Amino acid sequence: MYPAMTGSARADRAPAVLASRRFAPEVIDRLRRSFALTLHDADEVMPRARLLHDVRGMRGAMVTPGDRVDTEFLDAAGGRLEVVATLSVGLDHIDVDAARARGVRVAYTPDVLTRATAELAVTMMLALLRRVVEGDRLIRAGTGWTLSPGFMLGRSPAGLRFGCLGHGRIGREASRLAGLLGMQTVYAGRIMRGDPQEVSFDELIATSDVISIHAPLTPETHHLIDARVLARMKPDAVVVNTSRGPVIDEAALACALRDGVIGGAALDVFEREPSVDPQLLGLENVVLVPHLGSATHETRRAMGMLCVDALESVLLGTGNAKNFVVGSGPQNLTTHP
Ligand code: DGY
Repeated sequence: MYPAMTGSARADRAPAVLASRRFAPEVIDRLRRSFALTLHDADEVMPRARLLHDVRGMRGAMVTPGDRVDTEFLDAAGGRLEVVATLSVGLDHIDVDAARARGVRVAYTPDVLTRATAELAVTMMLALLRRVVEGDRLIRAGTGWTLSPGFMLGRSPAGLRFGCLGHGRIGREASRLAGLLGMQTVYAGRIMRGDPQEVSFDELIATSDVISIHAPLTPETHHLIDARVLARMKPDAVVVNTSRGPVIDEAALACALRDGVIGGAALDVFEREPSVDPQLLGLENVVLVPHLGSATHETRRAMGMLCVDALESVLLGTGNAKNFVVGSGPQNLTTHP
């Protein structure tokens, strides 16, 4: 059994809320002011047993994608739980139906991370096309080099086709930024809209120079990019993933990169985070980033504040938070990033 965690020491009747991670200081301060806070004051994921122990009796919980909110979690929390707010736009770690069935509202953080995540997708694409990380590795390895006409040539984005898989907020913003670089942008989404830039999944895969993934992880998108799909890409195509790792079959991707089936990959997310397929680590045509899509000071602060808005709105009846995916709130937003 775990002893009680460091609490906010509030002995009044403020609603009990669990925060599963060290969120931005301003966010923690606000949580402490509004609630009787139990805080996992660490950057590491809360051990599962600890999470299940500490959530017991809570009326609210603020979590991250590292925390599974499933029936086990909801059972452990018990009937007092009214709201779970996740510091993410992705909801694949939350059993939304189970929460709905128990009348627990679920809040997430759309919009505020759109720009940062799209920027990272484009940054990684450029790093790959212009061989930035490869060059950095070469210098750090002490490898001799001279500026010569044919040395480490990359590709300019202008004129290349940017194929956006998924066309939610982040995908649209990434396409806009790619357009500013002179790229021709097309997309394939879940819902056919009949836009001029819309193409079928098959056409996008076969004709894009850059395939940037912006689809949520669902049973339908799990391993959407597998060996068969990779084989249909252009031999110099590059894949960029800032959505969720399991959308790509990582082992199949590593083989395709090793065998020259495609040109490269830039990955912010992985199938078994924080592990990365060891085959990827030795490949030059790969850029690897540790899930930094929304990782800017401003964005994480804004995400945290949105979570607190939702907690306060449900538990204190203040404000007018609209960022709920489950509940009788002003609107039920889509789960698409
Ligand atoms: C999200 O919002 O889903 C990100 O992956 C976590 O910041």
